[in-house]
Amino acid sequence: MPSKSIRSSRMTGTGHYVPDRVLSNFDLEKMVETSDEWITTRTGIKERRVVAPDQACSDLAVIASTHALEMAGVKPADLDGVFMGTISGDMQFPATATLVQDRIGATRAAALDLSAACSGFIYGVNLAHSMIASGAMNRVLVIGAEVLTRFVDWQDRSTCVLFGDGAGAAVLEPCEPGQGILATHMKSDGSLADLLCIPGGGSRQPYDERTGPDRLHYIKMKGDGVFKFAVRAMADAARTVLDEAGYTVNDVKYVIPHQANIRIIDAVGERLEVSKERIIVNLDRYGNTSSATIPIAYDELVRSGRLQTGDLVLFTGFGGGFTWGSVLFRHGTRS
Ligand code: ACO
Repeated sequence: MPSKSIRSSRMTGTGHYVPDRVLSNFDLEKMVETSDEWITTRTGIKERRVVAPDQACSDLAVIASTHALEMAGVKPADLDGVFMGTISGDMQFPATATLVQDRIGATRAAALDLSAACSGFIYGVNLAHSMIASGAMNRVLVIGAEVLTRFVDWQDRSTCVLFGDGAGAAVLEPCEPGQGILATHMKSDGSLADLLCIPGGGSRQPYDERTGPDRLHYIKMKGDGVFKFAVRAMADAARTVLDEAGYTVNDVKYVIPHQANIRIIDAVGERLEVSKERIIVNLDRYGNTSSATIPIAYDELVRSGRLQTGDLVLFTGFGGGFTWGSVLFRHGTRS
């Protein structure tokens, strides 16, 4: 929805972190029946990052968050909220956001996880923006962090080639209306839940001797259905925020789409009629890091120096659920 409040919010600092270990398509050729050629042409992915044995989701999130707080010049103790998009947290509960809240020293902050799969960061930004615009909070840290390599079935070539690990974060603070976030959009359709899910390990099918051998505790995906829906959802969400804020895609400096598949990104670009130079792509290096793809890509863009204060940027994403959404904003970090 468009920002009609007396105040808006903007991302004042960003950060990201990816693990050191690189898993290339050639490495995957030795693990499952696949090829660099198939993965590259069908997905655009060349390599992805994989956590070290002693790393978990909160470890990645803490490093990304520290970078974002440093850029914003915000002390952890001044945060009112830590909102974390993740579907691969350290434990089933408590929320991984609480572990991050403790480790960064955000002693005053409420902390919660958002289970919106790849839309988790967009959902988190939208929620943080609403809390700030309403006056309920002043400074919120939003994180997208995933360790999906611990949840993919390394025997299933149709999914294991797609995902990687990483984390991105942004600090949101109040600003004048017309600056920062201009319009937000979130939607969902749970009737499509079984197209992309981890069926086992929850209260429907608890982990037991049956879920284990059937490998139900790993990601299951009907790739074709996801593909078609993703293109439509991301393009529609992008158009919605542009319309609500009264802009066209030609006014936008960069579109940052969720990084799942280069063919999905290209199709979204065609639907929106936006040239490739203005669409940010990094999935060749990281694969699909789910809720982390958009904040990682935005932080890389910010630190590359290619953005000027006031440039319009558009996030658009979709994920399991299904969930989808967009954020249109004026760039304005403190870097
Ligand atoms: N290597 C070689 N062959 C493979 C591989 C592989 N890694 N994976 C599948 N194949 C085979 C299939 O078995 C099939 O063989 P068959 O024709 O003999 O049956 C053939 O390749 C074609 O398979 P398709 O599924 O039709 O391939 P498609 O071109 O649709 O690409 C893909 C599959 C990449 C999964 C695509 O459908 C896609 O990207 N879908 C969207 C998925 C996505 O974005 N998911 C992430 C959402 S993330 C989130 O929200 C958590």
